[in-house]
Amino acid sequence: MSDAHTGSAAGFDYVAYLAAKRVVDDASFAATPREFCVQHLAAITEPSLLELGAGIGTMLVRLLAAGTLRRARYTMLDADRGAAARAHAWLGEAVAELGLRLEGAPGRAQIRGPEVSVELRFVEARLEDWLSSAETARADLVLAHSFWDLVDEGTLLPRLWSRVAPGARYWFTGTFAGETRVAPAHADDAAVWSAYHGSMRARGGPRHAAALRRALLESGAEIDAEGPADQRVSPGPATRPQSRFVGFILDTVECEPAVGAALGPERLEAWLSRRRAQLAAGTLAFEATQVDFAGRAPLR
Ligand SMILES: C[S@@+](CC[C@H](N)C(=O)[O-])C[C@H]1O[C@@H](n2cnc3c(N)ncnc32)[C@H](O)[C@@H]1O
Repeated sequence: MSDAHTGSAAGFDYVAYLAAKRVVDDASFAATPREFCVQHLAAITEPSLLELGAGIGTMLVRLLAAGTLRRARYTMLDADRGAAARAHAWLGEAVAELGLRLEGAPGRAQIRGPEVSVELRFVEARLEDWLSSAETARADLVLAHSFWDLVDEGTLLPRLWSRVAPGARYWFTGTFAGETRVAPAHADDAAVWSAYHGSMRARGGPRHAAALRRALLESGAEIDAEGPADQRVSPGPATRPQSRFVGFILDTVECEPAVGAALGPERLEAWLSRRRAQLAAGTLAFEATQVDFAGRAPLR
């Protein structure tokens, strides 16, 4: 999710959050942007991919699991200190479940298996800083999942395009589109989400799908495919990753000072207790609106 929804409060288990989010996101991708990228990758013998805000590597595993990547060079970029080591640890187990091996060390590794050979590099840097470095990326495809609502897309996209091959493809997925809903309804839902979304806007401006769409067009990029990619969790057992994901979202709501300020501690506590009880009983549904885009970097 648009993170937007990931408070980074002390004690927040980011790896567990992203692993649970992966399961929810697996069902969320818009078909036409995905097909645009799958076809592009299929036409290149050994594509180079650059993923921004790559986290623990869920997108890479998704592409491997779908058989979309076999021989490739894959660069993961993430600002989080220690991200390379965390990704290495998580990827080792995740690719083993696909019958593949992770070799090498955090930062520079290889994923090997029958018909699979991926050269993996991890760059621990803020995109803003990486774009100021001397490095360029001969990326055939730039990926960013649940990322653009965290940064200033208007200034970063033109700088990004100047660092990748003209006409490189992009697949920007899971960008928050402004609505979060949980059901059954509660009298304080509107107050909670209004304060919560307001705090996102206060932190970063209206950084969601509409802003990304505008910034893509202003940067000279082509949008070849787009579509809704909402995260949806139906009521169901509390032990599922999907329910753990919703639990993380409730934790981030709890940690957001603007929500406490708007509702006061008692009303917020009552709302959270009701929601957590519903989650434990398997009766809570969750939805967050998102959009996926795919297309081409400017030809310059
Ligand atoms: C919501 S997480 C998504 C991670 C991954 N794409 C996924 O969906 O599992 C956003 C990631 O972007 C990274 N990030 C945030 N701001 C960044 C920046 N300015 N430059 C590079 N990475 C950044 C965070 O460290 C985090 O790992």
